[in-house]
Amino acid sequence: MYTQVSIVGGGPAGLLLSHLLHLRGIESVVLELRSREELETEIRAGVLEQGTVDLLNAAGVGDRMRKQGAVHHGVNLQFDGHRERIDFHDLTGRAITVYGQHEVVKDLIQARLDAGGHILFETAATELRDLDSDEPKVRFRRGAKLEGGTIRFDDDAEEEELVCGHIAGCDGFFGISRPAIPEADRTEYMRTYPFGWFGILVEGPPSTEELIYNLHERGFALVSTRSPEIQRLYFQCDPEDEVGHWPDERIWSEMHARLDTDDGWTVNEGNIVQKSIVRMRSFVTEPMQHGRLFLAGDAAHIVPPTGAKGMNLAVADVRVLARGLADFHESGDTDLLERYSEICLRRVWKTSRFSWWMTSMLHRFEKDNDFQHRFQIAELDYVTSSRAAATTLAENYVGLPIDPAFLIPGEDGMKDQDRRKP
Ligand code: PHB
Repeated sequence: MYTQVSIVGGGPAGLLLSHLLHLRGIESVVLELRSREELETEIRAGVLEQGTVDLLNAAGVGDRMRKQGAVHHGVNLQFDGHRERIDFHDLTGRAITVYGQHEVVKDLIQARLDAGGHILFETAATELRDLDSDEPKVRFRRGAKLEGGTIRFDDDAEEEELVCGHIAGCDGFFGISRPAIPEADRTEYMRTYPFGWFGILVEGPPSTEELIYNLHERGFALVSTRSPEIQRLYFQCDPEDEVGHWPDERIWSEMHARLDTDDGWTVNEGNIVQKSIVRMRSFVTEPMQHGRLFLAGDAAHIVPPTGAKGMNLAVADVRVLARGLADFHESGDTDLLERYSEICLRRVWKTSRFSWWMTSMLHRFEKDNDFQHRFQIAELDYVTSSRAAATTLAENYVGLPIDPAFLIPGEDGMKDQDRRKP
């Protein structure tokens, strides 16, 4: 089997890349371990930067997002018993859209299948080969299932091979793509945080129109939404804790203790339909490419969720990769592909820094004393009272500017042939 671009992983990065390549007349095959249903129902984050929204719209996959996504012009920071708003619109002229990642995935899968695109679900990539040649290969097996962290195969599943021009490794932190780069040729930077996020999905009316990021002596809490009927709430927890230790009443009592304010505002309770704990880490691998393999999204970097950046960063990688692959196929020009890692890493590090900063400002660290807690409150006070500091938060939150060279036709009204070289 041959394709121009093999895409390992069918999350937002892999699917969007496949779609953007299709718009440029380039063929790809997406290999994804999970089933379509699992992909479309997995609850992940849900904040889209304006640049992500603009790209999805220009790429023709924004119809449902425009109808069902909620545009937010600001967020709230709550600390020391009061709540202050950061006005994105006033500070940056931009906004964010709250629309679940799995909804983006649904839209992209539909668009790829409607266009006759190839997505192999329940298929495990087992090995990446010949990355230094101009015909790299992906070995894979269909009939795969992920059970408790282990991949199992149907007994009759044989190993097959996909030969291609380039491989995109979009298979997440635990995928096979990053380790396919020889250890001697990569450097990994990692920071783990001594806490996790307990996330719940709640049926019931939202408690707030805009997100609330809250620092409390008992720890961080976040109020977000998914739709007018569904709330998404999180609170800082021990990363070793277990969901089973948290019956609904205990969760609500913790949420009230951290969030309710003196003026009578209280978090709305509802029917908890999902509970999960995520660990928090910052991670970057350098470089993000090796021979004809290019990493995008969580395969190359992880940010803690406090800045709501994970999917947006994946989308920013894919913009650059799609343009680089298009240059290669249209004119044989490899300049952008050669600089892929260097271009992406500048945004990756700035965004990692922002996510780390938000995390540090808003969580209780075990070893912190009252002195550090006072510093956090002073910082939040500064960020919400100085226009310069508020703008720093806002411009990062709505998304750092995209180099115009990587906008796609329709995002800026520019014709493709007029686009300058980045
Ligand atoms: C979410 O709605 O899931 C969400 C919102 C903001 C974050 C992280 C997650 O920073």
